[in-house]
Amino acid sequence: MLLRLVAALLLCLPAAAAFAQQPLAWKTGREAQAIERKVDALLKRMTLEEKVGQLHLSGRGDGFDAGQIRSGDMGAVMNFVVPAEVLAVQKAVRESRLKIPLIIGLDAVHGFSTYFPLPLGQAASWNPGLIEQAAYWTGREASAAGVNWTFAPMVDISRDPRWGRVLEGAGEDAYLGSVVAAARTHGYQRGGVATTPKHFVGYGAAEGGRDYNSTWIPTSQLFDLYLPPFKASFDAGAMTAMAAFNALNGVPATANKAMLTDLLRGKWGFRGFVTSDFGSITELRLHGIARDDAEAARKALLAGIDMDMMGDVYHKHLAGEVRAGRVPMKALDEAVRRVLRVKYHMGLFEKPDVDPSQAPKLMQTAEASAVALQAAREGAILLRNADGILPIREGVKSVAVIGAMAVPEEERVWTDPAGLGRRKITSLPDALRERLPAGVAIAYQPAFTRNCGTEFADKEAAIRAAAAADLVVAMLGEDCEFMGEAASRTKLDLPGVQQELLEALVATGKPVVLVLQTGRPLVLTWASEHVAAILQTFHGGTEARPAIADILTGRYNPSGRVPMSFPRSVGQIPVYYNQLPTGRPEKIRQRYESIYMDERNEPLYPFGFGLSYSRFTYANARVSASSLPLSGTVEVSVDVTNAGPLEGQEVAQLYIRQPVASLSRPLRELKGFQKVMLKAGETRTLRFRLDARQLGVHDEQGRSVVDPGEVEIYLGGSSRAEAKTQVLLTKT
Ligand code: BGC
Repeated sequence: MLLRLVAALLLCLPAAAAFAQQPLAWKTGREAQAIERKVDALLKRMTLEEKVGQLHLSGRGDGFDAGQIRSGDMGAVMNFVVPAEVLAVQKAVRESRLKIPLIIGLDAVHGFSTYFPLPLGQAASWNPGLIEQAAYWTGREASAAGVNWTFAPMVDISRDPRWGRVLEGAGEDAYLGSVVAAARTHGYQRGGVATTPKHFVGYGAAEGGRDYNSTWIPTSQLFDLYLPPFKASFDAGAMTAMAAFNALNGVPATANKAMLTDLLRGKWGFRGFVTSDFGSITELRLHGIARDDAEAARKALLAGIDMDMMGDVYHKHLAGEVRAGRVPMKALDEAVRRVLRVKYHMGLFEKPDVDPSQAPKLMQTAEASAVALQAAREGAILLRNADGILPIREGVKSVAVIGAMAVPEEERVWTDPAGLGRRKITSLPDALRERLPAGVAIAYQPAFTRNCGTEFADKEAAIRAAAAADLVVAMLGEDCEFMGEAASRTKLDLPGVQQELLEALVATGKPVVLVLQTGRPLVLTWASEHVAAILQTFHGGTEARPAIADILTGRYNPSGRVPMSFPRSVGQIPVYYNQLPTGRPEKIRQRYESIYMDERNEPLYPFGFGLSYSRFTYANARVSASSLPLSGTVEVSVDVTNAGPLEGQEVAQLYIRQPVASLSRPLRELKGFQKVMLKAGETRTLRFRLDARQLGVHDEQGRSVVDPGEVEIYLGGSSRAEAKTQVLLTKT
C-alpha cells in the first residue's frame, strides 16, 4: 500500500516536470558514429597540452586555479556544489580556446540535499525500484545544482565489517550487489549525473579490513564475487569508472593493465573513461612500482587510467613523457578520446549552464522526501523482537528516548551542499509524539555530549528517565570518525561509553528497545541476549527518525533484510553465508571438525534475515521442468503466505546449491529475490526464472564453468531458507 502511495506521488512529479531532465545514456547507431567523428575532429585541433588538460581533474579548495580552465589545462572539476560557483567555472570554460565543457564531479553518495539511507541501508531494503528512485533524486538534485558526474555507486563487495567503507556498498553478496549496482546506475543517470562504479577492483577485500591495504583474490573469486556488480553497472550504462587504491595480487589497481585494459576495455568493451582515485597515481611511488611522479604518470596512463583525480601528476608530467617518447601520442589520444566521448554522450556540449535561481526549487521536494521516508522505512531491519514488544503496545504510557543521536541538528551526510538550504530534521522524540496517543509521556535524555557516544553528558539523568518510563528506546550506534573511509576498526562494539550506558539501562529492569544507527554490522551478541528489541538502521537520512517512529509505533511493518552478516565476535570475520563446504563440517562440535573452540560458526544474524510484525511461510516449492539444459531456463515457484496478523512486505529469496560439481560450490548462493506486499492471511504464488548460465562459477582462468548435475533450490525469508526443490542440469 505504502509503495503504491509513493509510486502515485512520484507519478505527479509537479516540481520535476517543470525542470525536465534528460536521462543520461550511451547513444547508439548513427548518433554514436557521429560522436566518434566529432571526437576525431576535436582531437585534431588540440595541442598536446590541451589533450593533457582533459585528463586533469582538480577540485574546489586551496590551490584551485580557475586559470587552468581558461588555458585549456583542466577538463574536470570536483566538489563544486554551490550553483553560482558551478556557473563561474562553466563561464571560465567559455574563455578557453576550444571551450570544451567541464565534467563536474561529486561524491553524491546517498543524497545531495535530501538524504537517503547510506547505501548499505538502501541495500537492506532489498527493493531495487526504491533504490533506483533514491539514486534518481540524488542525481536530480545534484544535476539541478550543476553537478553532472557522481563518484558512485560504490559496488565493492565486502565480507569484512572491520572495513569502514562497507557503508558505501551493498554488502557481501554478488547477486544482491549486482541488482543494487544496476538500480543505482539507472537512477543516477536518469537523474542527470553520469555514474562511476568504484573502486575497480577488489578494494572491499582489504586484508584485515584495514583501509587501503593489499588484497589477494584468486581469479575465480574475482569473477564470481568482486567483478559482477561492476559488470552490472556497466551493463546498466555507467559511463565512467574509478580505479581502486589497493594493490590487487601485487599489482596496484591504478596501474593494473590486466584489469583496466584487457578485461574492462578488451573483454567487456567499456567505452567510457576511468579516473584514478584521489591522488592514487602519485601513490604508485609508495606502492613501490614507480621511482617518481613521471614514471607513475606513465605507468598509470599505459595501464588504462584516463583521468588523474587530484594528483596533479598528469598535468605536470604527461606532456614531458610524450615529448620524450616514453608515452606514445596514440596512448594519450585514446585516453582523451574516452573523456571527450563521454562528454559528448552526456550532451555536455549542448547543455545550458546551471541556473542558480532555479536550483533551490529542486531541492528537498515533497517527492524526494517521500522516497527518503520510504527508503528509511524499508532499509531498517528488525533483528530482534522478544515477546512481540514492538510495535509499542497500548499499555505503554511513558517512553524514555535515550541517546544524543535521537535529536541531532542535522543528518550525517557525505557531501555538504552549503547554500542549498538544509532543513532541520525531525527528532525521534518529536516523531514519536506525533504518532503516539496524547496521553503517552515522552521523555528525552541525550546521555552523551555528542552523537558519537564517546563521553557522557549526564548518565544518571538518562538512567533516571529510563527507570521512570514503561519503555526505553535507546538510539545508539556509530557516528563521527567511527565509520566511512579510513575508519577501520578491530573492535566492533558500540564506540565510546555507549555499551556502559546500555548495560545500565538494561539494569533498570525496564524493557529496552535498541535502535541502532551504524555504518556497518556491529557485534551485537550482548545486546541480543539482554535487550527486548533491536532495530538496525544504517544512518537513514533526512527522514530517518520519522521512519523509525513509524516502525516503533506499527505504522510501518518492518521489511529490511541483512545485506551483510552480523558476526557473533570479531574473530569469526570473514563470516558470510555463501561459504564453501569443508571436508570436516560441524556435526557434533567435537575436535577435528571445522569449528572454533570458543565460538559458534554461524553469524548472529545471517544474510537475508529480518523480522516483520507478521510471519511468512513457504510451501510447495516446485520447478516447471525436472531437468534444465545448460542453455535453458526453468521456472521455480513457491507459495508464500502471510500467516501473521498484519499486512506486510516479505523478501522472498531463492538460493541454490550444487552438491556435486567439478569445483567445490558454496553451501548457498542467492540467485533471485522478490519483495512483495501480502495482506494478513494472503497466499501468493511467486515465480522466479532461473537461467542455467546463472548457475555456474569461474575457474582459475576466468572461464565460466556450468557443470551438469543436481541443483538444490531453497526458497525462504533468509539465507537459511528451508522450502526445497531441485532441478537436474543436463548437457542438452
Ligand atoms: C575515495 C573515493 C572518492 C574520492 C573523492 C577518495 O578518497 O576513495 O571513493 O570518490 O576520494 O572524494
